[in-house]
Amino acid sequence: MNITSAKFEISNSNVAKCPDTARHEYAFIGRSNVGKSSLINMLTGRKGLAMTSSTPGKTTLINHFLINDEWYIVDLPGYGYAQRGKKMQTEIKRIIEDYILERRQMTNLFVLVDSRHNPQKIDLEFMEWLGENGVPFAIVFTKLDKLSSAAGKIQTGKYLDRLREQWEELPPVFYTSSSNGRGRKELLDYIEELNRL
Ligand code: GTP
Ligand code: MG
Repeated sequence: MNITSAKFEISNSNVAKCPDTARHEYAFIGRSNVGKSSLINMLTGRKGLAMTSSTPGKTTLINHFLINDEWYIVDLPGYGYAQRGKKMQTEIKRIIEDYILERRQMTNLFVLVDSRHNPQKIDLEFMEWLGENGVPFAIVFTKLDKLSSAAGKIQTGKYLDRLREQWEELPPVFYTSSSNGRGRKELLDYIEELNRL
């Protein structure tokens, strides 16, 4: 799929105020700093579209971007950033959970995982919660440019083995790097397929 246009539309903290349309939308979630906003910029080919930062906790709202005047990409705040403070963490958790459970237009949630790390409790619990609530999701390994090709295979393989201990069936899995564009075609093809349903 070609991305011919990508426009920021609205940021807000309340799912009820998200755009009132029937368009398909695809949201990106994961721990703070995992690379959600960078991935959105890579997919759209627009460097400054979603705000990125080397400091975790940059995205704090639900951000809608209209793609090809047809469907939405949604950048969500990261979870599990302890330095945020209790009140802010609770507020972010509420924003994320309300969005995921109430947003009917959300066709698929992409859960990002840093390919360098071993499975983290917070991510496993989050995916478990998605399963329990019947939320359609896919796993996206990020920052694969930071590992050699062999190390990337071993590390992500270990991760998936861990998930297989818990689940009979794995969701779709994507391997990406926002630095070199890896996985862009696969993700956009997948979205195109879902857009047709
Ligand atoms: P929050 O909004 O704070 O939750 O973070 P985020 O998940 O949106 O992460 P963001 O895209 O802001 O990226 C965090 C840091 O990781 C930035 O310094 C990015 O440049 C870097 N980064 C993101 N993706 C990649 C990648 O694929 N490769 C490399 N090398 N760095 C990346
Ligand atoms: Mg972000």
